[in-house]
Amino acid sequence: MTVREILKMGDERLLRMAQPVTQFDTPELNTLVDDMLETMAAVNGAGLAAPQIGVNLQVVIFGSGAVNPRYPHEPAFPQTVLINPVITPLGDEEQEGWEGCLSVPGMRAIVPRWQRIRYTGVDAKGQVIDRMADGFHARVVQHECDHLIGKLYPMRVRDFSKFGFTSVLFPGLDDNTDD
Ligand code: NI
Repeated sequence: MTVREILKMGDERLLRMAQPVTQFDTPELNTLVDDMLETMAAVNGAGLAAPQIGVNLQVVIFGSGAVNPRYPHEPAFPQTVLINPVITPLGDEEQEGWEGCLSVPGMRAIVPRWQRIRYTGVDAKGQVIDRMADGFHARVVQHECDHLIGKLYPMRVRDFSKFGFTSVLFPGLDDNTDD
């Protein structure tokens, strides 16, 4: 396993439409997933998408199983490898919440997201995943899947008075992503 370099906003590779995965449980896919898991763990990420390490495939990982030090006030949710995801909003209720991104180090913003979603896809072995999620779990899934369509969270911000540096907004927060 290898900790990979995370691309930062401004890199055009973050703006592409990612391609679907067509073969599962291959050495290449398993290595990609292992590298993503190790990379996310190394920086305490809540999630990571393959385009963030320059791989243009529809692969995201998220969750930790424990409370994340970058988001200490948010609940834990299960570590998941989600491939070829499809998100369906459940209802039209939105939630606003703080987000950061490993590709936008040192910053946070209030971002509107669907409150409740269903997400489907497969894992690295091709086994179906079909879940409902709400709150922070739903937020992270929407954030990660946005990376697969070339969207970074600043593109979703509506109120730019709620966009700033983590060190100013949340002094003392354990955010070690270049802050
Ligand atoms: Ni991100």
